[in-house]
Amino acid sequence: MAGGALLFSSKLDDPVAWSAALKAAMPELEVRVSPELGDPAEIETALVWKAPPGELASLPNLKLITNLGAGVDPILADPTIPPQIPVARLGDAVMAQMMAQFVTMCVLRHYRDLGRYVRQQRKSRWHYELPRASYQCRVGIMGIGLLGGAAARMLAAIGFPVAGWGRSPRTIEGVETFHGAAGLAPFLARTEILVCLLPLTRETRHIVDRDVLYRLPRGAKLVNCGRGGTVDEAALLAALQDGHVAEATLDVFEIEPLPADHPFWTMDNVLVLPHIASIAVPEIAARDVIENIRRLATGQPLLNIVDRGRGY
Ligand SMILES: NC(=O)c1ccc[n+]([C@@H]2O[C@H](COP(=O)([O-])OP(=O)(O)OC[C@H]3O[C@@H](n4cnc5c(N)ncnc54)[C@H](OP(=O)(O)O)[C@@H]3O)[C@@H](O)[C@H]2O)c1
Repeated sequence: MAGGALLFSSKLDDPVAWSAALKAAMPELEVRVSPELGDPAEIETALVWKAPPGELASLPNLKLITNLGAGVDPILADPTIPPQIPVARLGDAVMAQMMAQFVTMCVLRHYRDLGRYVRQQRKSRWHYELPRASYQCRVGIMGIGLLGGAAARMLAAIGFPVAGWGRSPRTIEGVETFHGAAGLAPFLARTEILVCLLPLTRETRHIVDRDVLYRLPRGAKLVNCGRGGTVDEAALLAALQDGHVAEATLDVFEIEPLPADHPFWTMDNVLVLPHIASIAVPEIAARDVIENIRRLATGQPLLNIVDRGRGY
């Protein structure tokens, strides 16, 4: 059994709910909540979301860092964290289901053109547009890992022709898959609603740039639930202004919170959401945190370890 304490450090997540969930799975675990570290030498594992820079580096016996979510870009961007300490991410079926439902809601909203009807209502305008069937509306998902894969399956199950694009070849039943640089252009050309669910890495920063946006058919719609930095916001803004991209639903931004003077706030073809698509639910996700602590203690391979070189 791991003897050390666990440091919980997050300004977003509820320390009371997490402490209770962790203790339910491992009653003997001592949980310390940042900034009350006690003796730093006693802390062997950490569960963190955007820990203050230097906090993790101050723990001399730290053996495992678990990121309180799927996207590890904040941890990998902290140069003070010793590179030899393994970093695990959270990601379970409940988180994937929550994301798939959220993406499905966003896609359905674009497919049934609710943005148009909201704009019409503001003008007391009754105007009927003939709806299309879902099999006529092609959805494409960039990033088809745990979360994007779940979204692809859910959308395919309700009748959309779904394609997915990733770094390496993957097979998902009922979903057409593309990969790598060569697969990107044909993937984009067939996509009317583009969903971004990529992690933010060196390779994916601004991957959705002007070129990618203009390879989509005119009038395409965009949903970004991955990371804001994967989209070149200036290019998106221009594409939304000239109508090449008709509408966007954005849950993530290059700067969060989105600055009050950002043009996205007041555009009637943009829905701004405050990074709410999916979370790690403590009573579910704590089990994976504890499983890794047990594995650490018994020398077994750890689960959900991030490849630091790859960045996800
Ligand atoms: N908005 C929210 O509330 C919220 C919540 C949770 C997570 N997120 C974000 O969602 C992201 C995805 O999570 P996940 O659990 O699905 O991650 P994941 O399982 O690691 O999957 C990542 C996917 O992105 C692809 N990818 C990575 N780098 C690529 C590149 N350079 N070119 C092409 N494809 C690339 C991967 O390709 P391969 O298939 O080849 O590996 C994989 O398909 C997270 O990193 C996080 O940033 C957002």
